Amino acid sequence: MVSKNIHPVFHQILNRSDKEDRLRQHAKVIWITGLSGAGKTTIARHIEKELSKRGFLTQVLDGDNIRTGVNNNLGFSEEDRFENIRRISEVSKLFLSCGIICINGFISPSIAIRQMAKEIIGLENFIEVFVNAPLNVCEQRDVKGLYKKARAGEIKQFTGIDAPFEPPLHPDIEIRTDRLSIEASVKKCLDFILPEITWYKNKNQK
Ligand code: ADX
Repeated sequence: MVSKNIHPVFHQILNRSDKEDRLRQHAKVIWITGLSGAGKTTIARHIEKELSKRGFLTQVLDGDNIRTGVNNNLGFSEEDRFENIRRISEVSKLFLSCGIICINGFISPSIAIRQMAKEIIGLENFIEVFVNAPLNVCEQRDVKGLYKKARAGEIKQFTGIDAPFEPPLHPDIEIRTDRLSIEASVKKCLDFILPEITWYKNKNQK
C-alpha cells in the first residue's frame, strides 16, 4: 500500500495562522451561489478588485474556469455536480491553509450540495452569498445564450429549466442583482466580509 511509506511532517510546516499573520488577513471562503446569469462571476470579480485595492490576497474560482481544468471530466448530472463541488471545496481548503481568501462563484444548486461544501470547508470559514435574480431576468439577460439552447432542448439538465435550483434558506448575504446596482451589491458584500477578514496585530482587538 502506497500510504505505508508516507511520513507527514506537519509540525515542520508553517501553519495557517503563521501565513495569515504574514499576509495580515484572515482567510475565508466567500461562496457565491445562484442561477446561471444571476451575476455570480461579476460580483466575484468586483469583490476581488475591491479587496485587492485594500491589500488583501484573494483567488477567484468559478464554474466556467474550473470546468475547463481540474473538473473537465464532469458534466451536469446530480452526481457530477456533487463531485464538482466536492473537488472545489477541497481546492478551497488548500487556499485557506495558505491564508488566502477564496471567492467562489458556482451555481451549487441544492441545499445538500452547499451543505457538503460547508462541511468540507468548515462552517467557521464559510461565507454564503446568494446572488438572487429571478429566473425570467436571468433568462432575459441570457449572456451566454444557454437559456435559449436549454429551451430548445439542445442543452439538457439546465439549472432553472429542467434541473432544480434550491435557494439558500439563511445566506449570510443576499443580493437582488435585478434591483441593486453592481456598486450597491458589492458594498453590501464588503460590509459583511471586511470585518471577517481584517487582521489585527493584537488578536484580542477583534
Ligand atoms: S454546478 O451546478 O456544478 O455548481 P457550475 O457553477 O460548476 O455548476 O457551472 C455552471 C456553468 O456551466 C454555467 O454558468 C454555464 O455556463 C455552464 N453550463 C453548461 N451546461 C449547464 C447546465 N446543464 N446547467 C447549468 N449550467 C451549465
